Amino acid sequence: MSDLNHTATAGFESRFGQSPAGLWSAPGRVNLIGEHTDYNDGFVFPFAIDRRTVVALGLRTDRLIRVASSFAEDTVELSLDDLTPENLGGWSAYPLGVAWALGQFGADLAVVPGFEVFIDSDVPIGAGLSSSAAIESAVAVALTDVWELELDRPMLARVGQLAENRAVGAPTGIMDQSASLLGRADAAVFLDCRSLDAELIPLGFDAAGLELLIIDTRVSHAHSTGGYASRRASCENGARLMGVSSLRDLDVNDLARAGELLDDETFRRVRHVITENQRVLDTVRTLREEGPTAIGALLDASHVSMRDDFEISVPELDLAVEVARASGAIGARMTGGGFGGAAIALTPHALVPVVSAAVTSAFAARGFGAPDLFVVRAADGAAREQA
Ligand code: GLA
Repeated sequence: MSDLNHTATAGFESRFGQSPAGLWSAPGRVNLIGEHTDYNDGFVFPFAIDRRTVVALGLRTDRLIRVASSFAEDTVELSLDDLTPENLGGWSAYPLGVAWALGQFGADLAVVPGFEVFIDSDVPIGAGLSSSAAIESAVAVALTDVWELELDRPMLARVGQLAENRAVGAPTGIMDQSASLLGRADAAVFLDCRSLDAELIPLGFDAAGLELLIIDTRVSHAHSTGGYASRRASCENGARLMGVSSLRDLDVNDLARAGELLDDETFRRVRHVITENQRVLDTVRTLREEGPTAIGALLDASHVSMRDDFEISVPELDLAVEVARASGAIGARMTGGGFGGAAIALTPHALVPVVSAAVTSAFAARGFGAPDLFVVRAADGAAREQA
């Protein structure tokens, strides 16, 4: 049994005094490219990573829900009859929000039994690697099994997104949950966020001698506050002024008209989304035709666009990207929602220690707190674990 399976089982047994009915897990994700495009009905290209959240879960005979985790002392209890977004808060809003959201997608919450769940995870929190989507996706697959629901993976991604939007209060898109639910080892998920059509594209990093290095700046971010929501509002405003239902309906040929119609800030927000959608398509095509060593320039261009047009980078992310490139990475960019979190650096295997040392000493020289650097691999999405 893996360590997390073991600790989740032990945690369940000590909090609830019996064995769980089963274990389910879901991974965090990293986004290779396609940032702030998901809620604009655009394209994203994330992959599930080899850091997971495991939930141990058992049904009750009454209507009570009890949730506990390795990252909080408290056990939160709530009746299924009181399950509304307004009643939820803190860390337990993630698992309880999913139970509520399943009700919005057809589960009959008036008849299902209550449950107990213990959550353990090795997805770093606050690093932009979707620790929250990992919880949501793991709970979603577990409850789908034990409540015997007929919901496919794209639907469960929408369940997780609804939980995040309504129970947690972060106006995020569909990318993170989709990656966590649909990911596969050695592949990334090319997702059309309008149709929810998903295609697994082999990455081939190993064969090309490449690693994806995560540089967690440890600058914390929260998407339920400020910047994320204001970027989303700018995009919606830009789409309205351009006369389209979402920015997905525009492409690089519309940039000249956008430049005439929009104020400078809105224009730059819109230009980021339009060019980022194009970069996702270009990355997928380049991977297929030339392999991963050829995608570096697209990653670099994505970072510049987020730094200058979308303005969601911070000095620590810019430094991480700049030093990683200068010390041997073939491409680098901030990843995730921005305002902190992590950068990624696509790096030749042999240069990982060199890039790591260079970034660490550059952070110290600038007086920034020490970053956390580690390599991630593309892993399988959410699944039931063998006990
Ligand atoms: C966060 C959100 C996603 C997506 C990214 C930016 O991770 O949860 O839905 O919008 O930011 O690409």
